[in-house]
Amino acid sequence: MMRHGGRSDKRSDRGTRLELQSVAGPRLLANMSPRKGTCIVVGASSGIGLALARRLAQSQRKVAMLARREGELEAQAALINESLANEFAKAYVHDVADVDAAEGLFDRIEAELGDVDELHFVAGVMPEVGPDEFDLGKDRLQVQVNFLGAVAWCNAAARRFQARKRGCIVGVTSVAQDRGRIGRPVYNASKAGMDTYLEALRNRLWRVGVQVTTIRPGFVETPMTAGLRLKGAIPADKAAELILGARDGGKAIAYVPRKWRLIMFVIRNIPSFVFRKLSI
Ligand SMILES: NC(=O)c1ccc[n+]([C@@H]2O[C@H](COP(=O)([O-])OP(=O)(O)OC[C@H]3O[C@@H](n4cnc5c(N)ncnc54)[C@H](OP(=O)(O)O)[C@@H]3O)[C@@H](O)[C@H]2O)c1
Repeated sequence: MMRHGGRSDKRSDRGTRLELQSVAGPRLLANMSPRKGTCIVVGASSGIGLALARRLAQSQRKVAMLARREGELEAQAALINESLANEFAKAYVHDVADVDAAEGLFDRIEAELGDVDELHFVAGVMPEVGPDEFDLGKDRLQVQVNFLGAVAWCNAAARRFQARKRGCIVGVTSVAQDRGRIGRPVYNASKAGMDTYLEALRNRLWRVGVQVTTIRPGFVETPMTAGLRLKGAIPADKAAELILGARDGGKAIAYVPRKWRLIMFVIRNIPSFVFRKLSI
């Protein structure tokens, strides 16, 4: 055991970080029966959420597309419907920070589009934060959108899916959740909070046949990352394809693309006293 011997003690000093997380091991969740119901994509006006909405509609699912930018959202839903010559997508203007509105809007979507059996929570914000900046306004927004917003929408889905004993929740966190970094402390923390919350939700809901899949994307080309010149970033549509593959594979946690699993294994295991000196 880790307590005996000097070498093992060193390992235990770094806590549980040395454990390679079981992200690709045996399927933790049986692939629940094929879903045909309505999907909700929160954060569907651009980037990964838009690509997911497009792919879900292409698979003949009704999709409620949620975001704040009404013009963009309406235009994208119209483009999807036009390309499919059918009314699969519908735009719902919504600010995730208004957490009390989630329950009512969920009911409205079900009344208009039929029972929902799949929720994708993709909405997120990542404001620029200077190295010496501690701005509560920016921090509060990230907690409200990235964390509380996710809790509000996933709770609303969980309650319904639990009662119906079916459904699937896909939550998009980030590789940024794996460690606290100097660049964006509250982005890291809000995504870590969401990630842990999703794990708890999964542990509750698998008993009743509801799937909860956590997606940790690496670099993806989207408006959020447009100015960052991220090396090796994948297109948003590729990310959506991989996310839906993880959903179909009944994955508990998926790094997207998969190479990030190894990268983050290494990063998670850099000791704190070294990590604090790095600029990553
Ligand atoms: N791109 C990457 O490299 C990367 C890496 C890891 C994780 N992620 C995560 O992936 C998710 C999608 O990001 P993206 O890269 O696709 O960026 P994006 O194009 O900026 O998409 C963000 C989406 O979230 C929505 N959103 C933001 N604030 C909202 C609010 N208050 N209420 C409702 N919707 C809101 C935006 O819509 P409106 O502005 O119209 O409201 C937009 O649809 C985010 O959670 C992000 O943290 C991205």
